[in-house]
Amino acid sequence: MTLWNAGEPGDAAVLRFTAAADAALDARLVPYDVRASIAHARMLHAQRLLGAADLAAIEAGLGALGAEHARGAWQIGPEEEDVHTALEQRLTARIGAAGARVHLGRSRNDQVLAALRLYLKDVLVRLAQGARDCAAALEALAARQGSVALPGYTHLQQAMPSSVALWARGFAAELDDDAAGLEAVGRRLDKNPLGSAAGYGTPGLDLDREATRRELGFAAVHEPVTAVQLSRGKAEAQLLFEVALLIQDLGRWAADVVLFATQEFGFVSLAAAFTTGSSIMPQKRNPDVYELLRGQSAVAQACLLEALALTAKLTSGYHRDLQLLKAPLFRGIDLAQATLALAPRAIGALTFHPERVRLDAGIHAAEAANRLAASEGIPFRDAYRRIAAQLKR
Ligand code: ARG
Repeated sequence: MTLWNAGEPGDAAVLRFTAAADAALDARLVPYDVRASIAHARMLHAQRLLGAADLAAIEAGLGALGAEHARGAWQIGPEEEDVHTALEQRLTARIGAAGARVHLGRSRNDQVLAALRLYLKDVLVRLAQGARDCAAALEALAARQGSVALPGYTHLQQAMPSSVALWARGFAAELDDDAAGLEAVGRRLDKNPLGSAAGYGTPGLDLDREATRRELGFAAVHEPVTAVQLSRGKAEAQLLFEVALLIQDLGRWAADVVLFATQEFGFVSLAAAFTTGSSIMPQKRNPDVYELLRGQSAVAQACLLEALALTAKLTSGYHRDLQLLKAPLFRGIDLAQATLALAPRAIGALTFHPERVRLDAGIHAAEAANRLAASEGIPFRDAYRRIAAQLKR
């Protein structure tokens, strides 16, 4: 039964199509919708729009529903349409009319934004920490084998001397920067959408948007009410953009590893657990983990494109299209979390073999030209020509 059902019989196929994947997707929003609903109910009470007994029943009922959901005692059913419907109907079934009073002065349109923002604030903390853990694993690699010489490449041609420390710390610094980029998404999440209701406020009701802001820990009230629905998809896109950059950094690191682990290069070997075998060639140990790390940036980019495209040409106000944002958003987040969970161990699985690294004879040429220019005070261009001539001989 939907919340908006005013008596007509529903069409099961239409409900299936409009609810789409929400029953599964919204599971992660349950604790956040519970929190936001309790904040809303407390505000209604403070505004004398909800009695004390009703508020107590709502708080207890929602708290219990949240706890029961967390331990797997119930799930959002396909006929419940989404998390908001599921909670409200289950609450009303449990506590009676008080459950139906909680929807005064709100709409699922502002509810979904409140739940998403609270959820995404938590996600940002976890993803940023995950990126920093990867950076720390690279630092540990630099501490362990940093002195091993590596060729530094430009155009994949040997360019200047580098080292495991320089190589690993370059990626570590970028991953720390990705963590900061993720945290910056918080700015877009830090506004209280509650009280904007369907997108045009709550005429006839005296709601206190500041009270729910305070209780839910948002930095500001999102104003004017018409901005709220215009913002849906923007924090999502920014987060997915930062995820795409993060996954791309790990993917480029992995691309180096795949190259360095070939028989031709042989700079690095991988712990056996991080390789897979071949069904036909008994000698093979393949770097599948690193190839998948590399490949995942395509998936992350697609999530971002999907989110951007969904909102690009919508007129203002709420549209059901917006519901489709949750699939690429959660796909991108889950991809990032799974990747970040494994990456530190994939980094720890590397062993460099200094005896296999061959530096090209010319790799110190730029250094020699620098020294010549500095010691003789001649223009760098002249020093460059002298060293080039020496190399030819
Ligand atoms: N599941 C919906 C979404 O994610 C909730 C809002 C539904 N609002 C509506 N007016 N049909 O967008």
